[in-house]
Order: sequence, then structure tokens, then C-alpha cells
Amino acid sequence: MSKLLELRHVNRAFGGVHAVRDVSLTLNQGEIIGLIGPNGAGKTTLVNAITGVHPPQSGEILHNGARIDGLKPFQVAGKGIARTFQVVQPFPAMTVLENVMAGSLFAAHKSSMKAASEAAMAQLEFTGLAPLANRPASELTLAHRKRLELAKSLAMEPKLLLLDEVNAGLNTAEVDQALELIRAIAAKGITVLIIEHLLKVVLTLCQRVVVLHHGELIADDTPANIFKDQRVITAYLGARFADRYKAQHG
Ligand SMILES: Nc1ncnc2c1ncn2[C@@H]1O[C@H](COP(=O)(O)OP(=O)(O)O)[C@@H](O)[C@H]1O
Ligand SMILES: [Mg+2]
Repeated sequence: MSKLLELRHVNRAFGGVHAVRDVSLTLNQGEIIGLIGPNGAGKTTLVNAITGVHPPQSGEILHNGARIDGLKPFQVAGKGIARTFQVVQPFPAMTVLENVMAGSLFAAHKSSMKAASEAAMAQLEFTGLAPLANRPASELTLAHRKRLELAKSLAMEPKLLLLDEVNAGLNTAEVDQALELIRAIAAKGITVLIIEHLLKVVLTLCQRVVVLHHGELIADDTPANIFKDQRVITAYLGARFADRYKAQHG
């Protein structure tokens, strides 16, 4: 497996809050990696560190072996690293199509409006939003706004896609549809890092799961092993409940 992205001893603090602490992690080409951890664990901060939104204060991030920490977000996007936002933020007055065109014009360097529009339309077809192409983004339901986030980032023609809670707030049927879509994205050969609360999604989608707790990477393993890991159970349930869980489950 070839290394796509490598984090070496990455740190990021905000004032006194050490949000990401000495995290080292490798993402390999073609993987779907789950990133989990309790609220406030530093998951979004890690994505912000990778994408140059909140660059690391120390440590290194390498993409195909070359340093990218210190690059601006648009430069990181230009390397083929796209992300979705936990709080979806479409341009509300623009149509669904125009929102996606912004991605294809900006990062995929389409040379004309026609080329950008065609590329954007292809992503709307892929994500099932084509019938809504000419509606203002502000009219979309949450599930459709989440899809729009995906379409926008896909229009940047990424090699690596960082998904920050794309399924939060969706109902069961919507989550199943989103799962199918994420599988289809991975089948295109795009490496996916998915921040996810729903264990069902992690268990069915990911070959590998990494766990953050208080900014530290405490586990990196297969889904089956992750949920047997005492530190992971303790991080999620607290020490008292973890002891009880262990007594019951061995
Ligand atoms: N821009 C910011 N300014 C100040 N504190 C922040 C900022 N972003 C994140 N934090 C803090 O860093 C910690 C990790 O947050 P975050 O990365 O959002 O966690 P998660 O995504 O795992 O829920 C939290 O304590 C949060 O309050
Ligand atoms: Mg978050």
C-alpha cells in the first residue's frame, strides 16, 4: 500500500486547549479510514490541520512524501485534498448547480464555464441531486445539503476526501443512502477519511479505524479490534462503566 498522507507528531492548541496532541498517522492510497472519538476529542481540528485551516504548531504533514503543512487551504485543495464541513455551509443564494460549479472552477481548474458546468452536473447526477440543480441551495433539506457538500468536494476532483460527520442528523434511510454513496466514492479510487459518530457506518464502511481521545491518538486498528480495546471502551463509556462492561463482556 502506498502512503498518501503522513502525519508526524502533529500538535495544535487553542489557548490552553491542546486539541491535537502529538498525532502520528498514515493514510494509505485506497483506504476508507474511520476517525472516531468523543465530542471535543480533536477530530475536526485534525481535519483543519491537514487542510491548512488551523495549521499544526509543530509536527509535519506529508502528502506523497512532500510537506504540505504551512500551505494555505486553497493550496492544499489544489493537491487533491478536499473536505466537507461538519456544519454545512452552502452559498444559500446560489443554485445547487452553481454551488458545485464553484468547486470545479476553483480546484479542478476547468477552463470554461461550460466545462465547469458539465463537470458539476456530472457530480449532481452521481450524488442524486440533478433534479434539484436549479433550485437555490437555501431550499434544500438537511440530507440534500449534506449531499451538496459531497458534490461540491467531489467537483474538486480529489484524491483524498475528508468527511466530517456527513451523516449527523440524518434518519436511518438517509444514512443508508449516504453509505451507498460513500462506497461509490471509494470505488472511484478516492481515499476517504470519515469522521463518524454512528458505529454502524464505521463498522460497515471502514477497513481501519483510528480513535482520538483528548487530542491523542489512542488506537489504530481494524473495526473488530477497536471495540475490544480497553482504552477505547473507557474513552467512550468512562472508567466506571468500562469496568462493568469488561465484567460482562470479558
Ligand atoms: N477554532 C477554535 N478555537 C478555540 N478552540 C477550539 C477551536 N476549534 C476547536 N477547539 C477546541 O478544541 C477541542 C477539540 O475540538 P474539535 O476538534 O472540534 O473536536 P471534535 O471534532 O472531535 O468534536 C475542543 O476543546 C474545542 O473546544
Ligand atoms: Mg467535530
